[in-house]
Amino acid sequence: MTTALDILFQPIELGGLKLANRIVMAPMTRAFSPNGVPGENVAAYYRRRAENGVGLIVTEGTLINHPAATDNPNVPNFHGEAALQGWAKVVEEVHAAGGKIIPQIWHVGMTRKPNSLPHPEAHSIGPSGLTLEGKKVEEPMTEEEITQVIAAFAQAAADAKKLGFDGVELHGAHGYLIDQFLWERTNQRTDRYGGDLVERTRFAAEIVAACRAAVGPDFPIVLRLSQWKSAQYDAKLAKTPEELEQLLKPLVEAGVDIFHCSTRRFWEPEFEGSDLNFAGWTKKLTGKPVITVGSVGLNEEFMQLFREGKGADVADIDGLLERLERGEFDLVAVGRALLADPAWAAKIRDNRLDELIPFQAEALKTLV
Ligand SMILES: Cc1cc2nc3c(=O)[nH]c(=O)nc-3n(C[C@H](O)[C@H](O)[C@H](O)COP(=O)(O)O)c2cc1C
Repeated sequence: MTTALDILFQPIELGGLKLANRIVMAPMTRAFSPNGVPGENVAAYYRRRAENGVGLIVTEGTLINHPAATDNPNVPNFHGEAALQGWAKVVEEVHAAGGKIIPQIWHVGMTRKPNSLPHPEAHSIGPSGLTLEGKKVEEPMTEEEITQVIAAFAQAAADAKKLGFDGVELHGAHGYLIDQFLWERTNQRTDRYGGDLVERTRFAAEIVAACRAAVGPDFPIVLRLSQWKSAQYDAKLAKTPEELEQLLKPLVEAGVDIFHCSTRRFWEPEFEGSDLNFAGWTKKLTGKPVITVGSVGLNEEFMQLFREGKGADVADIDGLLERLERGEFDLVAVGRALLADPAWAAKIRDNRLDELIPFQAEALKTLV
């Protein structure tokens, strides 16, 4: 008899990705790459997850070639010879361990602290120059800046393919640049990049299309989306399934293969009247494969870590397995549990549940 746990560990082919199982390492910024260059320690960190049964690794957010893409000089770049060589080594190590890996490509937009390293002289960019609180601190991005940023995302996707990654993930979630265009509050533009829900998808859709053109038809493109924004948990891009369908349609048409639907608790229904979570709705509305995420294997959600430095205890995954078995989602991303414990997937697979490690804030201090 096939159990739900067997399903979690069955090989699967989705959106062009051939995976050994359904477990995905969620993208997690670690900031251990001085001057933006990931070193041997970063390669070894990802290799350990691949060796211990993670089906697909999504790297930490890594930056497109734009001076205001971050405010942290220890976040890795995805441009420049030294950084790309570092990433080539990461790919080599993960593949040598039998794993699959895709980079998460990122620009923080208006969440960047002004005058911050690595490029204090650069000005922050966003659709309308508004912070997530809606405060105007910059001029809106010019069309020229928009074109440059789209090209930088496409270049990063092309480089991901050249370096031998298994696909690419675009960070369109959590209130960063791409999401700032999707969200009404931060996108007040009156040109073709602003307007109603569908018009606000133009920037994201053009990035996806440019990436698709850069990598060809067969290289998997994953798009990470979230309703919530950092510091705005109740924000919603789509208030109803109908709105979500409108939002997703242009993104599917532009060439997304897999949606990575970011929630903080995977069991929360997205809309009233149905149990389906954000990933479940996205799958139902698009027919595309989806990744779910949020407090898998842990009893507290992750933003408590940033608000209060709070950890989380181990929790069972029975509810997750029930949903997986029902086909609500295809893949399951695991964040903090895998950050704290490289062997989390192997322990679940082998029923070594008493060996699971709770997540503590101290885990952030080292690359275990
Ligand atoms: C330390 C840390 C860094 C994170 N950095 C990123 C990131 O770079 N990109 C991203 O999309 N999500 C990021 N996240 C969110 C995770 O990908 C994930 O969605 C979240 O932790 C919920 O999963 P969990 O409950 O299993 O930890 C981060 C989370 C943590 C804990």
